[in-house]
Amino acid sequence: MNQDQLKLAVAQAALRHVPDGRIIGVGTGSTVDFFIDALATIRHRVRATVSSSQRSTERLRAHGFEVLDLNAVDNVPVYVDGADEIDPGGSMIKGGGGALTREKIIAEVAERFICIVDASKLVPRLGRFPLPVEVVPMARELVRRRLVALGGAPRLRDGFVTDNGNQILDVHGLSIDDPRALETQINQIPGVVTVGLFAHRGADLALVGSAEGIDARSFG
Ligand code: A5P
Repeated sequence: MNQDQLKLAVAQAALRHVPDGRIIGVGTGSTVDFFIDALATIRHRVRATVSSSQRSTERLRAHGFEVLDLNAVDNVPVYVDGADEIDPGGSMIKGGGGALTREKIIAEVAERFICIVDASKLVPRLGRFPLPVEVVPMARELVRRRLVALGGAPRLRDGFVTDNGNQILDVHGLSIDDPRALETQINQIPGVVTVGLFAHRGADLALVGSAEGIDARSFG
């Protein structure tokens, strides 16, 4: 199986976790694109969606889903999203697609976070994938210096503007021993909008696709 076939398999497996007649939180990325297409096959069972990016919103609307403003929603029973890395405790690096801020907001509202990944995203320790940090543009150099002091090598994601009008620093060279502590530490830097560490609110369930099939891992 190639990587796209694995993404399709985990996307289809996630349908089993979609409750009937409820609002579904939808993440962003190539794996989620497969999930949105799969969700369209059971559209009659989905009341509406909330979306973590313009990209996913457009794809959802193209399939005829209603996409609600999160402020109009009390409850999101399930949020389905991919990850760039996931560790054995369910902590993740996210934001490779630049949608980390809206992803983190919906994840916080959701009762359950279901992470859909192929096995290449499983790591014993986070940090091989550069850690995305969304920053207010005027704070970019301040944040860059602070990230260097933390041992990282931040690089501006050139020519990229987030859905929120901000920039992203991708931080290379971090070996993340304590994801929660680092998430807290980076959140303290003025000008940081969101760090792509999802440790305080990690995944509740990961569906991991490999040549052997789908492995479901529960956390916490
Ligand atoms: C989007 O900003 C990210 O958090 C994605 O969830 C992550 O990059 C995984 O994307 P793929 O499914 O394309 O690998």
